[in-house]
Amino acid sequence: MEVVIKRDYDQMSKAAAQLVVDVLNTKPNAVLGMATGSTPLGLYQELVRLYKAGHVDFSRVTTFNLDEYVGLPANHPQSYHYFMREHFFQHVNIPQHNINIPSGTTSNYPAFCQWYEGRIAECGGIDLQILGIGSDGHIAFNEPGSSLSSRTRLKTLSKQTIDDNARFFERRESVPVYAITMGVGTILDARRLVLVASGKTKAKAIAHAVEGPVTSMVTASAIQLHRDATVIVDGEAAAGLTMREYYEFIYAAKPAAPRA
Ligand code: GLP
Repeated sequence: MEVVIKRDYDQMSKAAAQLVVDVLNTKPNAVLGMATGSTPLGLYQELVRLYKAGHVDFSRVTTFNLDEYVGLPANHPQSYHYFMREHFFQHVNIPQHNINIPSGTTSNYPAFCQWYEGRIAECGGIDLQILGIGSDGHIAFNEPGSSLSSRTRLKTLSKQTIDDNARFFERRESVPVYAITMGVGTILDARRLVLVASGKTKAKAIAHAVEGPVTSMVTASAIQLHRDATVIVDGEAAAGLTMREYYEFIYAAKPAAPRA
């Protein structure tokens, strides 16, 4: 795993965006795994900026989002459909039919989840999966206790996640209790992972995910099992890392070196 510590949120976002651009430069028809939450916003803004400046083209890209709240229609302002459209999709040239987001309103969740997994496979698998991290260490909506080989399924949100996400809703009671989410196993199948985290509220989760034991209690720790994972954090989110100096040393020595 590569750990990149950037000065601030802006630098973290730019580094993550560059990684996406690098993937698209080598594979213009790449399949991207998209994440929501406030953390990847800067990364999406940077990608939009690069697109508008003519530095990147999304016309052959396919996307799969990690998750969606159950019960929120696509036009609900807190749905991840809405989030993605507002912050990314409406600003770039990804063909509408290449955009895949779990349905929060299907009448048959098990069938939908199976279909979603099959669709990812049909598209050749995910080349680069973008990830954020919950304060309890979850990725997507894989709450503590989720099997590390789980696939796309319905998941009940933890109290911590409901509390964290309540800031986006008018009332805590409005936060959906269920979500449809790619599993940890689905995420680990992506060819490359990039996890972004910013701010001191993420320091503990990042320390557990990067340096703690691999455990279903911190599903982000599963990325330690991945052969090509990059964690990009700002200084505050890196605060709990005991090997921080080493990561900085590796990164400083890296420029022309091939990725390991
Ligand atoms: C939700 C999403 C995750 C995201 C997390 C953190 O739980 N399902 O994908 O990583 O929120 O969000 P934020 O970046 O707003 O802290």
